[in-house]
Amino acid sequence: MMRIFVTVSCILCLFACAGKYEEDVKEFPQIATIETGGSLLGVFELALNRNVPWELCWGPDDKLWFTEQEGRVCRLNTKTGELDTLLVLPEVWFKRTAGLLGMDLYQEKDGTIQAFLNYTYKQDSLITSRLVRYELKEDKLINPTILLEIPGSNSHNGSRVKISRNGLVYWATGDAHVYENAQDSTSVNGKILRLSRDGSIPADNPIPGSPVWAWGFRNMQGLAENSKGQWYSSEHGEASDDELNLLKPLGNYGWPQIEGFADTEKEKPHKRSDKIEPLRAWTPTIAPAGIVYYESSRLPALQNSILLVTLKAQSLRKIKMDRSGTKVLSEEILVDSVFGRLRSIAVSDKGEVFIATSNRDWNPAPGFPKSADDRILQISLAKDLKGNLWKSKPALVHQTNDGAGLYQRYCASCHKPDGTGVKDIFPSLVKNDKVTGEKTALLQLVLNGKEQMPSFAFLSDDELAAVLSYIRQSWSNESSDITSTHIRNYRHTNDQ
Ligand code: HEC
Repeated sequence: MMRIFVTVSCILCLFACAGKYEEDVKEFPQIATIETGGSLLGVFELALNRNVPWELCWGPDDKLWFTEQEGRVCRLNTKTGELDTLLVLPEVWFKRTAGLLGMDLYQEKDGTIQAFLNYTYKQDSLITSRLVRYELKEDKLINPTILLEIPGSNSHNGSRVKISRNGLVYWATGDAHVYENAQDSTSVNGKILRLSRDGSIPADNPIPGSPVWAWGFRNMQGLAENSKGQWYSSEHGEASDDELNLLKPLGNYGWPQIEGFADTEKEKPHKRSDKIEPLRAWTPTIAPAGIVYYESSRLPALQNSILLVTLKAQSLRKIKMDRSGTKVLSEEILVDSVFGRLRSIAVSDKGEVFIATSNRDWNPAPGFPKSADDRILQISLAKDLKGNLWKSKPALVHQTNDGAGLYQRYCASCHKPDGTGVKDIFPSLVKNDKVTGEKTALLQLVLNGKEQMPSFAFLSDDELAAVLSYIRQSWSNESSDITSTHIRNYRHTNDQ
């Protein structure tokens, strides 16, 4: 008996060893080097030609899982570069910012790996956003169980999904473009929801019988928990005030009455003790996306910081936190404007960092996508100086208040730096009679906003005059100035 056991285990070992031996460890090209905090970090190119990797997750199987917005779940072996597709979801409704979005993974005690996915779905004209659980079996995701369906929309669908250290599902949802949802505690939009892995509501949720855990959010794009159980989210503001928040149960984060800090006359009356201000707000906006709380000693220069990737600002940032995790000490840009839009980030158990570009999405930056897009990159200690060297720099807010500077800060993310817009989404401002025509109608639009065009009432008279005169005189528009007196009078007559 003993002999059989020994023989069998030897054969097993032989197989296992042979398997390992055959695994072809690949050297990935180091395409750039980042210098930060006295360390050199290499940026390695792991995968090319992907299509909007929306979420990256480090799996319990020591592989890098990712979702692609059009409806695919894939898995990358970060040692060999081998890629497999675990799931294709034809029912995903993929348009602009909607599609297959957040994902997280969980390993049950019996070893089964579960994947929790969120995607938008459209039937007739009804858009919903689904949270679905799958099981991994023989390299395929099977047995879908819908845990929750909530109202979706053309935009503001969030979302990120994270499984907490104690195995609960946290889901950061968008307001579905109905701003009032965020302050309505009976709506599940504009919320952090907290569920059990079977979709039931945990008995210790702050509102008995409700999945709502925190509210007052517009459109969250990043969610992370640290080892102390503190939760953080990143969020897109309307035209100003992107946010990084420290999340608390029953916390109200202010949208739509308060954006960023409660610092304008309109916001101040809403400032009450139950409304929580962000850790950090960004105006002009940077479009913050994925976040992780980096705690590993593997890359000491990054320790105890929130790593943030951004879309509009095309950057990877290190937001150094104090020991308590409740205060931002500094913000550094590790690299920007090189890889294009960056949407997702993950950290392996060993402390390697992974990021993914989002240059094939609906709103690419000028010059993108490039032929290799989208790419999945790894950031680890550099062995050599290779590729371009990027030195991290403090994140300073540029303050050019001339029309061109204001246009680039507030308008170019949608209407594009050269005013040409995005077909069928953001109108071109070049030779557009709404720009060159009647001044009052233009002021009315820019001060009040319309549909996806945000209101810019927060800009001062001088700033509005500068940016509007700029668009009226650029790109062969050749129209007259708008003065700050004109704006002051307009605001006075219209009580703004
Ligand atoms: C978040 C994206 C976004 C930003 C930022 C933005 N716009 Fe717009 N803008 C739009 C959209 C969408 C429309 C079309 C609105 C509609 O008619 O439904 C629009 C329409 C306009 C129009 C009217 C053009 C037309 O043909 O309808 C003008 C003028 C304009 N924007 C100026 C500006 C200026 C000036 C800024 C910066 C201060 C700005 N926009 C920032 C999205 C944006």
